[in-house]
Amino acid sequence: MCALAGGLIICGQVFPQNTSAPSTKTRVETTQEDPWWKHAVIYEIYPRSFQDSNGDGVGDINGITSRLDYLHDLGIDAIWICPMYPSPLVDFGYDISDYTAIDPLYGTLADFDHLISEAKKRNIRVIMDYVANHTSDQHPWFEESRSSRTNPKRDWYIWRNGKGPGQPPNNWLSWFGHSAWTFDPTTNQYYYHYFYTEQPDLNWRNPQVRKAMYGVMRFWLDRGVAGFRIDAASRLFEDPSLHDDPILPGKNSYGDPNIEHKYTDNLPEVHEVLREMRHIVAQYPGDPVLISEADEPNITELTRMYGNNDEIQLPMDFQIADVNRLSAPDFRTLLDEIERNSAHGQPFYFFGNHDQPRQWDRYGDGVHNDQIAKLMAALLLTTPATPLLYYGEEIGMRTTLPARKEDVQDPIGKIGWPEEKGRDGERTPMQWDTSNNAGFSTATHTWLPVPPSFAQYNVELESREPGSILSFYKRLLALRRSEPALKYGSYIPLDQNNSFVLSYFRKTAGKGDSLLVVLNLTGEQRTLRLDLAPQGITQKTSRPLLTAPEISDESLLIDNLTLAPFGVYIGAVH
Ligand code: GLC
Repeated sequence: MCALAGGLIICGQVFPQNTSAPSTKTRVETTQEDPWWKHAVIYEIYPRSFQDSNGDGVGDINGITSRLDYLHDLGIDAIWICPMYPSPLVDFGYDISDYTAIDPLYGTLADFDHLISEAKKRNIRVIMDYVANHTSDQHPWFEESRSSRTNPKRDWYIWRNGKGPGQPPNNWLSWFGHSAWTFDPTTNQYYYHYFYTEQPDLNWRNPQVRKAMYGVMRFWLDRGVAGFRIDAASRLFEDPSLHDDPILPGKNSYGDPNIEHKYTDNLPEVHEVLREMRHIVAQYPGDPVLISEADEPNITELTRMYGNNDEIQLPMDFQIADVNRLSAPDFRTLLDEIERNSAHGQPFYFFGNHDQPRQWDRYGDGVHNDQIAKLMAALLLTTPATPLLYYGEEIGMRTTLPARKEDVQDPIGKIGWPEEKGRDGERTPMQWDTSNNAGFSTATHTWLPVPPSFAQYNVELESREPGSILSFYKRLLALRRSEPALKYGSYIPLDQNNSFVLSYFRKTAGKGDSLLVVLNLTGEQRTLRLDLAPQGITQKTSRPLLTAPEISDESLLIDNLTLAPFGVYIGAVH
């Protein structure tokens, strides 16, 4: 059933554009000038929630291995897996008690090796999470450190005297609420923890700590991992003279005064360590990558993460991730800034991860969320940046928060309820099909409940529906592979005063067509009169390669292009 509207053919079922997934895919090649991580599509997996293979209600390594074909068919080049190391699970794995083992909950080292080799067969690289800032308080290093003031590992953590009885050394606050200092009666001193009490910070000023932590990197690189995502990278150092942080107006959701983390974030010493880490990975073949988690507040700080091309290759760009509104000017400004970053570093974009509500509802307007999900996918996957997908966003998974405090798993939600409900909502099980537990697990209870939305939003159903979010992602990912402009084309912003529509040009010199990307970030139909003459384009029409919500093959006039509400147009010009 088709109708003609505004020059575009609106079809319910017909699928005229390139609808088939790519058949054979080569591994994203790597050379010194053009390393793989510049072109790879990376996919974040929260292992507890991806696939349970042994029926205990928690995802595991063999579960991930069993879904590699899905990831391959989707068009994924690398997976980053959140921590699977032994852990008391206070912060669901970000509190590590042994860096060189696998928690039995997720499997064994042999399972991990098997995952690496199966992934390799499908041209998928595996990136590990590397939690460098802190360990678990049950790590043997900390157990030794806390045992006496003279223990050889005492200085592996940050121990200080209080200001007086019951008074911590200064006003620093934990990211997860309340003082960042915990008193330990064994030795009558406080230890510092940026995150939970059970996550004491390592002392990166101690050379033995560095040596041990670099050994951890080598352990996993020797097993074949393709790099690391460095957790909380900007928080590795604290001001040694313990200045109080400046107090800001208002209170946070834990009831503490707001503060500026001036003396614990982004200290210059961080960069020395990042250079040392880069030096380690650079000794391994295959261009292993370093990704940094750090919500850098501005382009200057973000640019510093690249160093002199000797620190982080892919710093996660939280500014783009957290625009949190469909604003063409906001995105345009940020895209421009990062594209022109003075370090010439590779931008790295994402819209969702395991710490923030899912993009489906953060950017959705409550009416057009599915179309907006496609719009955000088009933005993520058509700039020169390396894209990071969060599991489930390709099927439109939404944030599903716990209804009652007693259901909360994430300790943030337990501390901050009801204002802060925690991160369970974005960590729910992957929705594979319409069977029990959405095909995630055969257990009676899964560690977090499967959201009711699984009945409509799941891989099985969406694979069959040409108009689904998943089908759109597949076509877009296929386009990234088939169009050199999406790989090598320069980024040229167009129509820069347009407040509603974001458009840009991916221009290639002699390597096939250039690409026009036009994204309507509003709920109204919009018409554009683009002029590509300054780009050397005299052609008047553009051939659509991928459009939404309408699917059309009809060439369009570049100087009279109409887009539906939240419409996407990706077309070729030469
Ligand atoms: C990072 C992780 C987050 C964790 C925190 C403490 O921000 O992404 O999940 O809670 O570090 O390790």
